Amino acid sequence: MSNLFNIKLISQNKNYECSTNDSVLESGLRHGLPMHYECDNGTCGACKAKLVDGVIKKIKHCDFVFPKNELNSTEFLMCCHSVASDIEIELDLIDGVKSIAIQNIDTKVKNIYFINKGMALLTLRTPRSKTLQFMAGQDVELSFAGNTSRYPLASCPCHGMTLEFHIRNNKLDAFAQAIFDKSLKVKSKVSLQGPEGIFVLKEDSTRPLLFIAWDSGFASIRSLVEHAFSLQMPNPIYFYWAHPAAESAPYLISHANSWQTMIDQYTYRSIACEFDRSSNNDCYKVAKQIFDALDLNIAKQSDLYIAAPAEVLIYLGELLLENGVDESQLIASPI
Ligand code: FES
Repeated sequence: MSNLFNIKLISQNKNYECSTNDSVLESGLRHGLPMHYECDNGTCGACKAKLVDGVIKKIKHCDFVFPKNELNSTEFLMCCHSVASDIEIELDLIDGVKSIAIQNIDTKVKNIYFINKGMALLTLRTPRSKTLQFMAGQDVELSFAGNTSRYPLASCPCHGMTLEFHIRNNKLDAFAQAIFDKSLKVKSKVSLQGPEGIFVLKEDSTRPLLFIAWDSGFASIRSLVEHAFSLQMPNPIYFYWAHPAAESAPYLISHANSWQTMIDQYTYRSIACEFDRSSNNDCYKVAKQIFDALDLNIAKQSDLYIAAPAEVLIYLGELLLENGVDESQLIASPI
């Protein structure tokens, strides 16, 4: 039987609940807290924290050797300990994207799911001893057989060793072609380098969160929305997803709709636009169609997170700025 106890992060004045079956680290990550960690098995020492009050219990063997000057202190490894009472701890959280080092990790393909001939969901698994530290919304580079491409992570840091990517069947993208010609398959090794990018949540903002995705821009939006959910952010969430009018719906519309059951104040709308996936689209026309679908009163009060091709971002940004949205409200990621 498990019990739930409260963990208080003293310096950050944050609280979260931890089950006696989970480690302090696991539970913190699940609550969206940007905790430092690397191996999750007691080897690296990256998840050190200081116990200020309460009782913890060891749930995993750890090989990490504390430096002599810390031997008698109340430092402990969060990945190897759970709670035996309410506790209070001191630790440093990741302070923005700049404090995350670029990592090189050899991953394995766990699954490839073809939604249709044009879109694949790629799931990679990192080794248990080397999980990727990143912030929701960031990108990484993936390499296979000498071909490297950059993709946004569609998963949230709380998913641990499992990383998801949404890959379009783009003839100019050799990595993507390896998926669609099936030379990249389950158990193939994929080298990962990253994370990069600053398309991350403003976690302290009290504004509504308005997300706009063009087609596969949904990957990074998914990561952000699920991270906002882990953080239990009370902000209302609006999601607009632009897709080619020739297709009846965006490729994972059921997923976008399913957030309705998880998030209290969530509004979703698909925007059928006149575009195809070539680079020859009239980007102003697409930007205008997206702009016309937005509720401008809500946009003016919100933080806007937009994942779309660079030209669409430029035109859409101009339309929003001309109509009362402030530059500080726009967070953009070109796809
Ligand atoms: S994450 Fe490496 S020791 Fe805990």
